[in-house]
Amino acid sequence: MLDRIENLRSEAEAAIAAAAGAGALEDLRVQYLGRKSELTAILRGIGELPAPERGPVGSAANAARQSLEAAIAARREELEAAELERSLLEDVIDVTLPGTSPVAPGHLHLLTRTRREIEDVFVGLGYRVMEGPDVEHDYYNFTALNHPPGHPARMTQDSFYVDPGSLPEGIRVPAWAVARAPAAPGREAEEPAGPGALLPPGPKDVLFRTHTSPMQIRAMESQEPPIFIVVPGTAYRRDTIDATHSPMFHQVEGLAVGEAISLADLAGTLQEAARALFGPDRETRLKPDFFPFTEPSVQVDVSCMACGGSGRLAGGGRDPLCKGTGWIEILGAGMVDPNVFGFVERFGYDPERVQGFAFGMGIERIAMLKHGVPDLRMYYENDLRFLEQF
Ligand code: PHE
Repeated sequence: MLDRIENLRSEAEAAIAAAAGAGALEDLRVQYLGRKSELTAILRGIGELPAPERGPVGSAANAARQSLEAAIAARREELEAAELERSLLEDVIDVTLPGTSPVAPGHLHLLTRTRREIEDVFVGLGYRVMEGPDVEHDYYNFTALNHPPGHPARMTQDSFYVDPGSLPEGIRVPAWAVARAPAAPGREAEEPAGPGALLPPGPKDVLFRTHTSPMQIRAMESQEPPIFIVVPGTAYRRDTIDATHSPMFHQVEGLAVGEAISLADLAGTLQEAARALFGPDRETRLKPDFFPFTEPSVQVDVSCMACGGSGRLAGGGRDPLCKGTGWIEILGAGMVDPNVFGFVERFGYDPERVQGFAFGMGIERIAMLKHGVPDLRMYYENDLRFLEQF
């Protein structure tokens, strides 16, 4: 019996050492150590052996079992190591090889690049970037921006109206906001509703936003002062398309509100931004302007990048870009009107305590000035001869 165990063990050891793969090794384990193996049968039958044989046979069989288990584990490791070695050698991928591109890679559109450049300038000044909905409620686009229903400034920004029945629930406004706003002509005053109640929009309440300014209100509703944000986005107006107008265009809105923010901060911030965008030699100036939601309102001009501010070309002729004035208008801005804070007072904007400034610039216009693009339609025509120049 002891000889048989010894034979089994050496036979199994030889087979294990020769096993060529994980599958073969598993078969050997079943064959030599499994429930139906000879070794298992021997171990089970020990009780039937004559007493003096039981001890030696038991310990020999157990020793054989343990050594075969160890041999299988060792062989398994060997096979795994060999497999790893093989795959490292054969399946090599040289990650340093240059990729092969079947077509020339594209690049970002000039308007996207310009938007990102503007965002970067303001992020560098500590502003955060926010975005908001293109389809707006009249309350955010006009009313809370101090254009009450019937205000003539609404007519300068006519837009595209949307059938509110065609929209998901999202465009509802809080009842308190509607109650705060004077009732539109031809519209019943709203029923008083509980706090948190949302009112569905009326037939003329939903429009494509005419500017990114509604996000001033949404941003102040969503966070307490101080707030420093820029909001890039698309705006829409009922305009026909020509060299400088388009019914769809892009803006970047800015809003800075805190406890001690003055017109000097507006001037300094926008001077810094103008220099970052148009070059370190640029000067800026403020001219009086009007927007319903800022008071005072200003137009910001930058010294002309074509003639350097002289209004004259090198040859002596009048500079057509600035029409001989030496200045170019780049954006509208102003100090946030206290009436606007009145609409967000419940969110921590006490008009007696906070001040701030807002500005809005057209991305198309900034890119035209930076790159000498003569006609805004070129941005949207997708002519590669134009797009590839930038
Ligand atoms: N929303 C204004 C427009 O589109 C621009 C603006 C923004 C003016 C912020 C002042 C302050 O014309």
